[in-house]
Amino acid sequence: MEAVATLVNIAALDRPEDDISALPSILAATVGRNIEDIYRGNGKGILKDVELLRQITEASRGAISAFVDRSTNNKGQVVDTSDKLTSLLGFGLNEPWIQYLSDTQFYRADREKLRVLFGFLGECLKLIVANNEVGSLKQALEGKYVEPGPGGDPIRNPKVLPTGKNIHALDPQAIPTVAALQSAKIVVERLLERQKADNGGKYPETVALVLWGTDNIKTYGESLAQVMWMIGVRPVADGLGRVNKVEPVSLEELGRPRVDVVVNCSGVFRDLFINQMNLLDRAVKMVAELDEPEDQNFVRKHALEQAKTLGVDVREAATRVFSNASGSYSSNINLAVENSSWNDEKQLQDMYLSRKSFAFDSDAPGAGMMEKRQVFEMALSTADATFQNLDSSEISLTDVSHYFDSDPTNLVQNLRKDGKKPSAYIADTTTANAQVRTLSETVRLDARTKLLNPKWYEGMLSTGYEGVREIEKRLTNTVGWSATSGQVDNWVYEEANTTFIKDEEMLNRLMNTNPNSFRKLLQTFLEANGRGY
Ligand code: BEZ
Ligand code: MG
Repeated sequence: MEAVATLVNIAALDRPEDDISALPSILAATVGRNIEDIYRGNGKGILKDVELLRQITEASRGAISAFVDRSTNNKGQVVDTSDKLTSLLGFGLNEPWIQYLSDTQFYRADREKLRVLFGFLGECLKLIVANNEVGSLKQALEGKYVEPGPGGDPIRNPKVLPTGKNIHALDPQAIPTVAALQSAKIVVERLLERQKADNGGKYPETVALVLWGTDNIKTYGESLAQVMWMIGVRPVADGLGRVNKVEPVSLEELGRPRVDVVVNCSGVFRDLFINQMNLLDRAVKMVAELDEPEDQNFVRKHALEQAKTLGVDVREAATRVFSNASGSYSSNINLAVENSSWNDEKQLQDMYLSRKSFAFDSDAPGAGMMEKRQVFEMALSTADATFQNLDSSEISLTDVSHYFDSDPTNLVQNLRKDGKKPSAYIADTTTANAQVRTLSETVRLDARTKLLNPKWYEGMLSTGYEGVREIEKRLTNTVGWSATSGQVDNWVYEEANTTFIKDEEMLNRLMNTNPNSFRKLLQTFLEANGRGY
């Protein structure tokens, strides 16, 4: 039955390259609606759309459950889907999804589109239940051939399944893809709308954001494309599909000002995608040199101001693509927080500035990463918003220490002349209906669904020793967010304290299962309290 949830998510994406329509789009069309409009209506809290989306989701789940039921035997094992599928596809009315939908308001759903979609889902189902990991591991240990295949997010690209392959990434020159740009536009427009709504209708002049290597592999360059769309350029592929050029999108087409960016590339991104750093740097410089009014082109506005202050030309001032020095990774804020080896937030911010201020310069080919801290600080000081992506349901904000490690929210506040705290946003593109939430909303959601959710912590505790460590790690990562952004509500710590410390039975369980992690958990509570979080 777990396969149903995965299939529902897989079915929610349009796959125009294979002529496959998303199930929610097919269902929405039967009631004369466009699914993107329904998603948008949901975002705005329009009750009619919230209800319709609930019905669409329920019908998707029902139709897919009916299909999975018919493809499995009475022990719940998948029987040979290829035979089953051929027979299922043979009889119009007998198709289980049609039978299910006939009792719903979506009974008129396009049969042909459904047939194509469920043919594809049948292939996916076979891949989802395949179990090759131990087999492949044995093959590898015996020095035998292991079949290679792409890695990535199984929802966006089910062909990464089955697991147990010798996985490879992608051609680094092939991103961003057309589909990635399409998704990026939606996220950027939602981010800008949200910022406008919360800030008296004003666009942010600058967004400080993060590019990860693994994310861009999994999404075929969605976050890379987000940067391009913010500044208003479009990637251009050559005849072999390599993206090595950008062209400006006209202000008319963009329908808004070009938003300036400060791009913080992870060390992994720098290692994998140096060509794309080059491309972005050229894009930013090109935009800074466009002859456009400053209130329509914030890249140009800031670059002109910075050029004047620094006594350099506009191209040099238009430096926005930063990372670590060659061979170095991370701001190390995560290590400082994990080891409690820091005095105050300022110290963490200094680490960020000294480690992350290395710029790539497309006008100095071969020069490598060069320290440009002054421009970095100046660019960050114009940021009205900070932004990161959550791209797959595998990892969220407090699962790992690397998200807060890249977060410059409090740093930007300190650098800004007016001392104003920037808005902080997180995009959730783990499902078809991409969401942009504030960082504090996302931290809340993470706390509710994991740290404070009995299903999560009991699941962890059922694994024993390691489970206690996972709970402790999550609390430490939460402290990390307090330290870099101040966006964690008090009640998160208070409820965690009630759950894990005040409850004596729980306290004893933790202490007996893993005394080391329990001690660290206590220390972390005391530290959070001591630091005023
Ligand atoms: C990255 O893919 O860029 C990345 C991976 C692990 C930690 C931080 C960044
Ligand atoms: Mg991620």
